[in-house]
Amino acid sequence: MIERQEIKTLLQDPPVNTRVTIMGWVRAWRGNRFMVINDGSGPETLQVVVDGERFDEETIRAIGFHACVGVTGTLAESQGAGQAVEVIAEEITIFGENDLSRYPLQPKKQSMEFLRDNAQFRMRTNTFSSVFRVRHGVAYAVNKYFHDRGYYYLHTPIITGNDAEGAGEMFRVSVLDPTNPPRTADGKIDYNQDFFGKATNLTVSGQLQAEIGAMALGKVYTFGPTFRAENSNTSRHLAEFWMIEPEIAFADIENDMDLAEDFVKYLINYCLEHYAADLQFLDERIQELEKNMKATDRRPMGLIDTLRFVVENDFARITYTEALDILLQSKTYKKGKFEFDLSWGTDLQAEHERYLVEKHFQRPVIVRDYPKDIKAFYMRQNDDGKTVAAMDVLFPYIGEVIGGSQREEREDRLRQRMAEMNVHADELEWYLQLRTFGGCPHAGFGLGFERIVQFITGMGNIRDVIPFPRAPRLAQF
Ligand code: 4AD
Ligand code: MG
Repeated sequence: MIERQEIKTLLQDPPVNTRVTIMGWVRAWRGNRFMVINDGSGPETLQVVVDGERFDEETIRAIGFHACVGVTGTLAESQGAGQAVEVIAEEITIFGENDLSRYPLQPKKQSMEFLRDNAQFRMRTNTFSSVFRVRHGVAYAVNKYFHDRGYYYLHTPIITGNDAEGAGEMFRVSVLDPTNPPRTADGKIDYNQDFFGKATNLTVSGQLQAEIGAMALGKVYTFGPTFRAENSNTSRHLAEFWMIEPEIAFADIENDMDLAEDFVKYLINYCLEHYAADLQFLDERIQELEKNMKATDRRPMGLIDTLRFVVENDFARITYTEALDILLQSKTYKKGKFEFDLSWGTDLQAEHERYLVEKHFQRPVIVRDYPKDIKAFYMRQNDDGKTVAAMDVLFPYIGEVIGGSQREEREDRLRQRMAEMNVHADELEWYLQLRTFGGCPHAGFGLGFERIVQFITGMGNIRDVIPFPRAPRLAQF
């Protein structure tokens, strides 16, 4: 049996002058006497004093950067600055040597692209281990938030026959090629050649199935992988990302917005409370990165201050029409500095969303009541005949983190909208039946899990907050 103490626990209340055993990876050497160990339990490291009289030089040389070792020794108050305690090594076990001349990573600053290509080791760096601990914390907080409030976690399918968003951005699972399907001798599509006997794809959203849950369990949420074959070559898009989708019966767009704001604030608060050391490290990392930037390119507040600001202040709430007025009256628009043009009916681009959030309101913004033609078929039509009860939550640096809506519960309206938008009712007969039989007003939203993790960790690229990113030409591991 292997016995050891975890560094995070040891440092909480250090049992000075006792014998301890720690195991982990060498983060750095200070000279050839002090070895700095991290075991992944937290961002904390423990310094090990390696006495040259006790250990021969060859042993010490074999323990390079990121080598894996076990150390037994006395935990003592540290003589040096920078740490309260250190381990005076008595025994060292080398679990895994690390020959730096062949190891892909080196003990120096390395680019994010390079680390992405070496994802088998990038989690050993300070930045990535902090990011993935925080990611875990956000996932835990998601489940805790809903569980504590009486929601049920519903597992919705990954392989499905429908396109929930109607945007045609699905990855095909079925062998059936919709543009050139196999045919029988009499010219009909030969479904026998397919495992499912129909065209299937990876899910773009669990919403439609979550609505089934809400119409029986009242309050449900999904939290699973979703897939989009859209152009995801940006710093906020992935081809495979995780989405959290609550769906609630007896709720309208107001309930939906209140839930969204309360929920994201809870997630941020949870991390501030439980991942303070990781956030502190990430905060300092950003300050370091911004040192050489022009003042105008720097973020106005540090990471932790930004997170605190978001939880302590109300989100701004405006309609799409109001948002458009603000944008059209802005100096940026008047000087022709937006890349994409704007008029009533066009979708807001990331640059517009960021203007509203970062320049105009300087806080998160919820935009509601979008033109119906730029939104999905299932959203409830407003009485003006032009807009739907949709809402997007926009965050600084990220843009849209949440998209949601009140759902169209009136069957005739929904059928009509599906026809107008060329959404085939035959695939969604079951969905329509939720209206025919025992339906009610209901609403929900989708939070992009990686986008909120990106915001909380302050990472610049969404590919660096998911362990194994999937994007165009990026599918290693
Ligand atoms: O706005 P979207 O497309 O909404 C839906 O899918 C609804 N069915 C949700 C619902 O009402 N239940 O996506 C929801 C969120 C976006 O706000 C964004 O944060 C994230 O999912 N998202 C992506 N994240 C990373 N990469 C992508 N390619 C994403 N596409 C959407
Ligand atoms: Mg959206």
